[in-house]
Amino acid sequence: MFLNVRDFEEVARTRLDPVYYDYVAGGARDEVTLRANEEGFQRLSLLPRVLRGREKRELDVSLFGSRASMPVLLSPTAFHRLVHPEGELATARAAAAAGAIMIVSMASTVAVEEVAAAARAAVPDRAPALWFQLYLQPDLEFTEALVRRATEAGCTALVVTVDSPVLGLSERNKRNGFTDLPEGLRCENLRELRGGEPGSVRQIVMSPELSWEHVDWLRRHTSLPILLKGVLHPEDARLALRHGVDGLLLSNHGGRQLDSVPSTVDLLPEMVDAVGGRIPVLLDGGVRRGTDVVKALALGAAAVGVGRPVVWGLAADGERGVRRVLELLREELDHTLALCGAGSLRDLTPDLVRRTPAGRG
Ligand code: FNR
Repeated sequence: MFLNVRDFEEVARTRLDPVYYDYVAGGARDEVTLRANEEGFQRLSLLPRVLRGREKRELDVSLFGSRASMPVLLSPTAFHRLVHPEGELATARAAAAAGAIMIVSMASTVAVEEVAAAARAAVPDRAPALWFQLYLQPDLEFTEALVRRATEAGCTALVVTVDSPVLGLSERNKRNGFTDLPEGLRCENLRELRGGEPGSVRQIVMSPELSWEHVDWLRRHTSLPILLKGVLHPEDARLALRHGVDGLLLSNHGGRQLDSVPSTVDLLPEMVDAVGGRIPVLLDGGVRRGTDVVKALALGAAAVGVGRPVVWGLAADGERGVRRVLELLREELDHTLALCGAGSLRDLTPDLVRRTPAGRG
């Protein structure tokens, strides 16, 4: 029985090739940050209000023009066909059915056009909410073409991942010899289109030479909202404002890039402070429970993303699994709001969160 996200991880672990399980579950180096993300939430307590609730609670949000049924979105994760044959098609259908925003990874194993078509077909009566995650490529012409593709496919915001000047190093992957996708799987958004014909597939280039000038370049080349994913230093948050960025997704890549950075929820108050309400701050990393969502929103996040929980749902039970993971998080969020005496997300304020004294968390 799937009662919570953890149950999905357990089933996924038994279903998946251990090499692929490790690829998803693992983090960089000693995995200090990977663990810190979940622990960060566990060290925070909730202090509920009483006698002020509501029979029906409002969970819906509007973010960068996308309406969503809840403030939980699907953070971009690569290679969904590694864990389920339907890959991103199944994920997109489940997200659309749940009314959740899906951030399609640039490294998806299904082309963004097909992901969008699957989402649209799942909810013919409304527009599914899709955003596109981008690693800026030093080849700007290619980057521009990719942005155009994602925009034409129906993605309505760009999430630019900036924490990957080089690839983080997972020692699990190294030990397992996992370096490449198996035969038949490709990053379909990296396929060159020559005269409309699918051609060879490029590799994603991580470049340490990317700079704020590239963000400015992107700003000039798209009218879509731009979010930066992976800004951790408050000074960079202030720089992002100056460079016309529309939002931040506070993320440490699920502990997969630089190990030993703080958990995202620990950094959240500082980052919210740094942008001073001028742009929304979203957060991902370690969100596994409705209580985690409430803690992040109370501390000022506009929404949270989930990475691994979606992949566990997909691996365990395909489209149905992802759908159930999203439903569970929604139910837990609603239940937590009720127990906190909150009628809507607006009632979530920082005074509802307390830091558990050290050593007792
Ligand atoms: C990721 N993440 C990620 N981020 C990104 O910007 N582009 C990507 O292609 C991927 N791919 C990816 C694959 C897998 C298997 C994982 C687990 C993660 C990071 C992801 O967007 C997100 O930041 C974290 O997953 C959030 O942490 P949790 O929810 O997994 O704890």
